[in-house]
Amino acid sequence: MNAYLNGQFLPLDEAKISVLDRGFVFGDGVYEVVPVYSNKPFRLDAHLHRLQDSLDSIRLANPHELAEWRDLVLQLIAQQDFSDQSLYIQVTRGTPVEGQPPRDHAFPKGVPPTVFMFAQPLVTATPEHKAAGVCAVTAVDNRWLRCNIKAISLLANILLRQKAIDVDCAETVMLRDGFLTEGAASNIFVVKDGVLRAPPPSNLMLTGITYDVVLELAATHDIPHEVRAISEAEVRAADELWMTSSTKEIMAIVKLDGAPVGAGVPGPLAQRMDALYQTFKQQVMRA
Ligand code: PDD
Repeated sequence: MNAYLNGQFLPLDEAKISVLDRGFVFGDGVYEVVPVYSNKPFRLDAHLHRLQDSLDSIRLANPHELAEWRDLVLQLIAQQDFSDQSLYIQVTRGTPVEGQPPRDHAFPKGVPPTVFMFAQPLVTATPEHKAAGVCAVTAVDNRWLRCNIKAISLLANILLRQKAIDVDCAETVMLRDGFLTEGAASNIFVVKDGVLRAPPPSNLMLTGITYDVVLELAATHDIPHEVRAISEAEVRAADELWMTSSTKEIMAIVKLDGAPVGAGVPGPLAQRMDALYQTFKQQVMRA
């Protein structure tokens, strides 16, 4: 399993950084997770643009041009001995150098960012798993107000997600001031009376690449859809609830806080969207 670290491709277990790296000490960095199917990255440019947005938000200069990123990612993909990959990209504010305080909140000057990438096998849901759906719990979204940044400091998301794991569920659906934001590691869609609804992109959630694809597919295939604020009551009265992410794709939530969602099984629109998504993926992969 090969990784990439600061200009070098090397075995993952040989990739080493200083303990003073700001990613380690402060969680001062951003990341991306790119799904790779049959050695082809899915929506790579969208992920790289979102990485740029995250870097801009944390005032860290992008160490690479788009074309360089593409090239590095493709090289890393080619070096794995599995073809469906979850490719992780992380950029941190680097390691303070000699003469600088080892730990200081202020940005270090003249320090190159740390760029780390590795790939692990992408395990997508089996047809049986999709047919069963997953359960979720709700929680108050107690994260900061800059959730549109894909920051590596994920402590709040981890604690929120663990609430679901602790009761053998897959995801925590977050509510802020009575409105749906997103999942702890996914976006959430609601279906009611045949209409697909998603909360609007804002600083309160990460706009998922999968979220964008789902809305594009809804538009292309004339599926009624609305992007607007969704109240907790609407979440609880949904006919269908989905979670979406690059690694989970589209997964139906069939139980929320112990109560069945709709009929308590994956709904017809979830099944249709999943089929559209799979077809779209194959088209993109063949292109
Ligand atoms: N997480 N919202 C949050 C908080 C997320 O962490 C993710 C994905 C998403 C969905 O984004 P996308 O469709 O671009 O994957 C939304 C990744 C997969 C992770 O942290 O592993």
